[in-house]
Amino acid sequence: MTHIYAVYSAGGFGREIMPALQANYRANDVEFVFVDDNIQDEQVNGVAVLTYERFTAMSAESKKIVIAVADSKIREKLADKCEKDGIQFINLIANNAIAYEQAEVQEGLVLFVYALLTVNVKVGKHCHISAYSYIGHDCTIGDFVTFAPRVSCNGNVVIEDHAYIGTGAIIKQGTAEKPVVIGRGAVIGMGAVVTKSVPAGVTVVGNPARIFEPKAS
Ligand SMILES: CC(C)(COP(=O)(O)OP(=O)(O)OC[C@H]1O[C@@H](n2cnc3c(N)ncnc32)[C@H](O)[C@@H]1OP(=O)(O)O)[C@@H](O)C(=O)NCCC(=O)NCCS
Repeated sequence: MTHIYAVYSAGGFGREIMPALQANYRANDVEFVFVDDNIQDEQVNGVAVLTYERFTAMSAESKKIVIAVADSKIREKLADKCEKDGIQFINLIANNAIAYEQAEVQEGLVLFVYALLTVNVKVGKHCHISAYSYIGHDCTIGDFVTFAPRVSCNGNVVIEDHAYIGTGAIIKQGTAEKPVVIGRGAVIGMGAVVTKSVPAGVTVVGNPARIFEPKAS
């Protein structure tokens, strides 16, 4: 019987992380698949694409999945569905990423190539930490948080659930008494330099980061 390792979504991030999954788990009795209900192709980059229905109907010794959908709200819905169907979640830590043993992570993590979790870091469920992103000491990251590539998240920062941190953002360190808090669902624009806490649900851009008000069209 086969062990199936799946990436949920054959979109951009899903295709990026598949080679890291294959590198970690390749074995004779392992099969890799994409699960995607929106793609008609039978294969993407040489890997079979199955609908969720076909994936759940497959007989296998074990089925494990990592959810690569960028939209954190959709990611949460898919995670609920997989959990109800008894599918186990993978923690995909690319083999050149580093998570020190003093970092505590929950299920469904993607820690992509060259990413680093340092000491006394907590990371919630189904977070994506993309290539070259760094999370410093004593940071607490909520559930369904997304880090685009090359984020510098310095020490004593709290990032609440569903926040999105854009490429190359830099977040100033807080202190143990007064961490810098990125509120639930906040979006940090690419390249932003965040020098203080950001309220829930807002978007900030620039250096120093300020609330982004799209121009009225
Ligand atoms: C901030 C952000 C969410 C705004 O998205 P948006 O609403 O689609 O914004 P637009 O592209 O329509 O740009 C609107 C204006 O904001 C400016 N702008 C957009 N993003 C900006 C940023 N990160 N910093 C500074 N200005 C920015 C644009 O130049 C534009 O200015 P203009 O009105 O003077 O022409 C987005 O640009 C962003 O930074 N997303 C993160 C992207 C990322 O990291 N992707 C990683 C993929 S792996």
